[in-house]
Amino acid sequence: MAIEFGERIRRIPAYPLAAGYDLGQDTAMLASNESCFAPHPEAVAAAHRALAGVHRYPDPSYVALRTALRARYGVPRERIALGNGSCDLLLTLGDALLEPGAEVVYAWPAFSEYRHLGPASGARAIEVPLDAEDRHDLAAMAAEVTVATRLVLICNPNNPTSTSVALEDVDAFLRSVPDHVCVVLDEAYVEFALAVGDTYASVELLRRWPNLVLLRTFSKAYGLAGLRVGYGLCGSEAVRAAVDQMRQPFYLNMAAQAAAVVALEHQDEVERRVAHAVAARMALADGVRELGLWVADSDTNFVWIHLRNEEDEPQILDGLRERRVLVRAGAALGRPGSLRVTVGTDGENRRFLAAMSELLDR
Ligand SMILES: Cc1ncc(COP(=O)(O)O)c(C=O)c1O
Repeated sequence: MAIEFGERIRRIPAYPLAAGYDLGQDTAMLASNESCFAPHPEAVAAAHRALAGVHRYPDPSYVALRTALRARYGVPRERIALGNGSCDLLLTLGDALLEPGAEVVYAWPAFSEYRHLGPASGARAIEVPLDAEDRHDLAAMAAEVTVATRLVLICNPNNPTSTSVALEDVDAFLRSVPDHVCVVLDEAYVEFALAVGDTYASVELLRRWPNLVLLRTFSKAYGLAGLRVGYGLCGSEAVRAAVDQMRQPFYLNMAAQAAAVVALEHQDEVERRVAHAVAARMALADGVRELGLWVADSDTNFVWIHLRNEEDEPQILDGLRERRVLVRAGAALGRPGSLRVTVGTDGENRRFLAAMSELLDR
């Protein structure tokens, strides 16, 4: 007899997993928007030290990390949510806010995991197309907000399209939304988003909007993707409390907490990574334009490319893979005929451009 699962299991889409982790050392891993640089050695050392104490559970109030984040952003500890990656916080927020009869509004294409939230909770998901430049259309999103809306997700800058919207526009959007609606500004790439402002700029919005959550991660600019640490700066304590109520107490392991605290102390390293990513994304975009392809204005550590024809995508992906260059297929991300390419080392980026040039010439 077959095991009978909950009905949700038939509805929830499988996350499009990045492949190629089996291709070996000499592969340009440009598919998951990670940092191409190893973590700061002192963050690694802190994780090592923490391992000596793992016969105990981790501190379930996560005081050290919450205190470090409070010191940096001036948000009270009670309004700082933590998660096993920001993905964990996103899913838990969905659990806490959504149910049948409720609605969640987000742009599409945006971060793949958003598509989990409606089916997992039974809420109606409203996907609002991006504008002609692959940016969020905040006016169109505002028009979809109803009395049933519980959650709006704004991915800024947007994954997979790399584009950002100005915080003044987010502020105007918040003004138009009733205050029972939780608005999550997913800022996984905020450190790279020079067009949006520095990492404090959106924190200012929290003072005005108790229904706002800034969702952030140590996976990108801090180079700790493998340890899984995310955080949410919340406009109200109620959101943090609801999230914590939804899950097990020990969601963030000791090594991850310790490394994140130390990584925060090394802002010089974050700045170095950002400077590299900004220069590299410009060089990548120039190279792609020289090949005659459209590329979005990137405010992230990746670039978003439209191929000439939708049908070119599988053959280009196969060709890149043969040359040990892994990028993300647009088809898996909601826009066939596109590629999302993470900024790698300068050598990896040159390798990607050389491979593309060969493949487009064929
Ligand atoms: C927009 C966005 N949000 C959230 C995440 C989740 O990041 P993590 O769970 O590693 O913190 C990602 C990861 O790629 C992302 O692109």
